[in-house]
Formats: sequence, structure tokens, C-alpha cells
Amino acid sequence: MGFLYRKLIRQLLFRFNPELMHDLAIKSAKAAQKLPPAGMAARLLTKAKDLPLTVAGIKFRNPIGLAAGFDKNCEAARFLSQLGFGFLELGTVTFRPQPGNPKPRVFRLREQGAIINRMGFNNAGAWEAARSLERLLPLPIPVGISIGKNADCSIEDAPKNYLEALRVMYPYGDYFAVNISSPNTLQLRSLHGGDKLRRLVEPMLDHAAGQKQRRPFFVKIAPDLEERDLEAATSLAAELGFGLIATNTTVSRQAVPARWQSYEGGLSGRPLREISNAMLARTAELSGGRIPIMGSGGVMDGETALEKLRLGADLVQVYSGLIYGGPFLVKEILDYLARHNWQPRRH
Ligand SMILES: Cc1cc2nc3c(=O)[nH]c(=O)nc-3n(C[C@H](O)[C@H](O)[C@H](O)COP(=O)(O)O)c2cc1C
Repeated sequence: MGFLYRKLIRQLLFRFNPELMHDLAIKSAKAAQKLPPAGMAARLLTKAKDLPLTVAGIKFRNPIGLAAGFDKNCEAARFLSQLGFGFLELGTVTFRPQPGNPKPRVFRLREQGAIINRMGFNNAGAWEAARSLERLLPLPIPVGISIGKNADCSIEDAPKNYLEALRVMYPYGDYFAVNISSPNTLQLRSLHGGDKLRRLVEPMLDHAAGQKQRRPFFVKIAPDLEERDLEAATSLAAELGFGLIATNTTVSRQAVPARWQSYEGGLSGRPLREISNAMLARTAELSGGRIPIMGSGGVMDGETALEKLRLGADLVQVYSGLIYGGPFLVKEILDYLARHNWQPRRH
């Protein structure tokens, strides 16, 4: 099936504008989730051996998840939950709706198996995402919700803005991802600094502590971090008890031909793999098993997924791999992990 996608369907889809194709995919998934036979067919076609594990107190049926940014408005989660994933990370959701950056803002680098995007957190806002999830939950797999900052909110006011979004979304997530690493929101990445990160995350953790169910948090970090910021983030994570997602997209263009230098935005897919893996390995080394870690960046097949798990990721996320490999990629990865006798790490 994956072969069919790569040889035929992808050729067709790649003739059209990437964002248009993405919107079409979300619309189709929304339509399909209203038709029980479509969901049943998807489940049958993507069925793989369960590879159960528990991370941050959450039970997963396998370690492969959908990365944030695919279902920004949390509207296609039911259909997406039937494609074999162990979990979905929905969003990034901001408190208020916002249009994002001017189009075009997504570019395919076909020969590199990569994407450059500068979407800028286009989304319908937290209340709309909550309304969607109200209709779609419960789902058969855990759901993480990624929270980001509104573009018109200053960095000083970021903690309040994130907290407002969290308050709305809290009833709907099994975990929360604090996105401070998109390169497409001005100064967002400055939130990595030790003290700023503490001021951002502490109120969110306090909110969670005051609720009936205390949900776990992950901070999603950039692959372009300075060592001292990574050290600060890792030790804060161990102190306050949150996990890390390594990594978001890169602003580096080192691994792609010169003609892509002038395209602003975050690079994902195959050329991100090495940079992201270096950051993942260093995060795992610094944390010494004290915090849960998710790996994201350049997972295109079973081998690149297993590589991240071996480098220290407890869970792995995919985005660009799905665009290039198609909806059967998750099953292909899970079959590969089963064949290689992958076993979850014990914490
Ligand atoms: C079009 C596009 C939109 C994205 N939007 C988000 C987002 O809203 N929030 C986020 O945390 N990451 C976002 N990402 C980053 C992905 O979640 C992922 O971390 C990154 O693409 C690296 O993984 P990959 O190489 O498997 O694509 C986006 C990526 C792409 C390609």
C-alpha cells in the first residue's frame, strides 16, 4: 500500500499547492470520520502489532505519534486516530484565533524529502478547538494538545497568553505540549532561556496541579539551541517534572542546496534528521533518564524511527514522513519495530 502511495498518489498530490493539498486532506478526514465504514477500513488497512508502553503515566499502544501542526484545529482527530498511531499531538492552538503568515507559506523540497513552512500558528483559537474536541472525544488513543503564543502578544505577556489557552484546552488533553520552538513567531524561541522558561511553565504546572486530573507536560525545543539553553531546559524539566520534545523544525539550511537559503521558515523532513538527532541524544545524555523524551525530526521510515528510540526517545513523532510516505507509514514503522524486537525502556 505504501508503494502505491509513493508511486502513484504522491505524484498526483504533489502537482498541487502543498497547503491546498493539506486542507483537502483535513476536509477528507473530517468527512471520513462521519462514515463508520471509512474508519473501519482505515483501521483494518493500518492494523499492526501492539507495542504497548507507559510514558509520563499515560498508556500508549505503540510509541509512534502524529506531530503537532497537522491537525491545528483538532477537527480530524477521530479519523487520524484510526491510522495506527499510538497518540496524536493536536494544535498548535493559540488562545485567540489568528490567520498566520501570508501565503504561500509551505514549500516542498521534493528531492530532499523535506518541507519548509512558515505558517505562523494559523488556527481558529482555543474555544473553537475545544468545541471540536467536545464532539470528537473520547478517542481510542491518547491526545496531546500543543499550546502556542498569539503573534500579537509580547514575549513579556507570553505566560498569561499560554495559560489562557491551557485553561480552555485542559479538559481535552491527555498531555500538553508547550511550543516555544516554532521559528515563525517573532522571538518565540527566546522563551528557551532558563528564567523565562520557568516563568512560562510554572503557572501551567500549577494550573494542572489544581485540577482533578493532573496531566503531564512536555516542552518542545528547537534543534538550533545553544548548549547552555539546552542544559537549562533539561535541568528545569528534571526539577519541575516535565518532559521534552526534541525537536521542532530548524532554521539552518546547511543540509539543503543553496537555492533554499532564501526561503524563510522551519525546515523539516530528511535533512532535519541529523541536527535533530544530535539534540535528542544530548537531551537524553543530560537528563540521564530523569525525564520522558519524545523525538521529532526526520523520521521517514522504520529505521529512522528506531534510531530515535535507541538515541533515548521514549516516544517518536512524525509529520513530513507522512507527506512523503503516505498514511501507511505508521504501519510500516510499527512492523519494522516489531521485526527488530524493539522493547520500551524501563523508567
Ligand atoms: C507544515 C508544518 C506545520 C507545522 N506546524 C507545527 C505546529 O503548529 N506546532 C508544532 O509544534 N510543530 C509544528 N510543525 C513541526 C512538526 O510538528 C515537527 O516537529 C517537525 O516537522 C519535524 O518533524 P518531521 O521531520 O517529521 O516533519 C509543523 C511542521 C510542518 C511541516
